Amino acid sequence: MLDGYKRDINYLRVSVTDRCNLRCVYCMPAEGVKTVKHEEILTLEEIYKIIKVSAAVGIRKVRLTGGEPLVRLGIVDLVKNISNLPQIDDISITTNGILLKEMGKDLKKAGLKRVNISLDSMHAKRYRSITRNGQLKKVMQGIEEALKLDLKPLKINTVVVRGVNSDEVVDFARWTKEAPVHVRFIELMPIGTSSPWAGDRYVPAEEIRDMITDKLGCLNKESKVIGSGPARYYRLANAPGTIGFITAMSDHFCSKCNRLRLTATGGLRPCLFDKREIDIKTPLRSGASEEFLAKIISEAVLLKPDRHHMDYGWRDQRVMSQIGG
Ligand code: 5AD
Ligand code: SF4
Repeated sequence: MLDGYKRDINYLRVSVTDRCNLRCVYCMPAEGVKTVKHEEILTLEEIYKIIKVSAAVGIRKVRLTGGEPLVRLGIVDLVKNISNLPQIDDISITTNGILLKEMGKDLKKAGLKRVNISLDSMHAKRYRSITRNGQLKKVMQGIEEALKLDLKPLKINTVVVRGVNSDEVVDFARWTKEAPVHVRFIELMPIGTSSPWAGDRYVPAEEIRDMITDKLGCLNKESKVIGSGPARYYRLANAPGTIGFITAMSDHFCSKCNRLRLTATGGLRPCLFDKREIDIKTPLRSGASEEFLAKIISEAVLLKPDRHHMDYGWRDQRVMSQIGG
């Protein structure tokens, strides 16, 4: 599906729940965000139907996100149904990894290809304070399990926050020399609870890069394509893993954007940073035909803006777990 700027939109990110078993400080307030009523959330059958129609109009890759997707009951069956759609050639999950040790095997069996795991610190105490009570050990076991199950490429998402975990950049980078992990450093965005302080705590990718090359030597540009996202990848000499940078703030990648989002409440969102949302739930629930739903999806694609205009003055009322990270 081509959008108004001739970008091929073939990637659908689906938020399957607004709930999460963690409370990361830059994402949510300590008490959590007010979750919406159960009836407002799409059922798994509804999600499947939207994905099926999307596949018919050109979506080839699906990523399940949240909140935390693994807390949604029935997620394994959803993965299985999606992976049985002939047009879908890539299905992945973004997770905080807490439940991955228990669920990894079933997910793999259901057809899951790979996972992105969010991890901002490798110190147990610090991890606990960033996530407000998460257990690092659980995530590390989840990562081990993912490596064992060959869910690859295994990507680690690390949001760098100045004065919080910026001193761990080199440790994360060093990890790629020891294991086939692809560590992606993400620039902090002023979304959710981080809006008021993101400007002060933001570390540009350029600075992260310098910290790494200072201590670990040259970063060589990686030509092999890893996934279909916006990260730019590099490799340290002889490293099995790679290092990626997601520069949402310092160098937006909008011209290469290939994605459409579906929120847990059934809104099609042409751009993460754009408040516009097209309601697909209402027509779906009132019995619209697949052709009609396909038209709504194509219209959402045409609403994609050329780029986001977020800077450090911008604020959204909602947080990542509600929009879908
Ligand atoms: N800035 C950058 N990344 C964020 N995430 C959540 N909130 C923010 C923010 N304000 C990340 C999570 C996870 C991914 C889904 O989004 O850490 O890796
Ligand atoms: Fe949960 Fe992800 Fe938000 Fe952390 S960043 S609270 S893991 S949704």
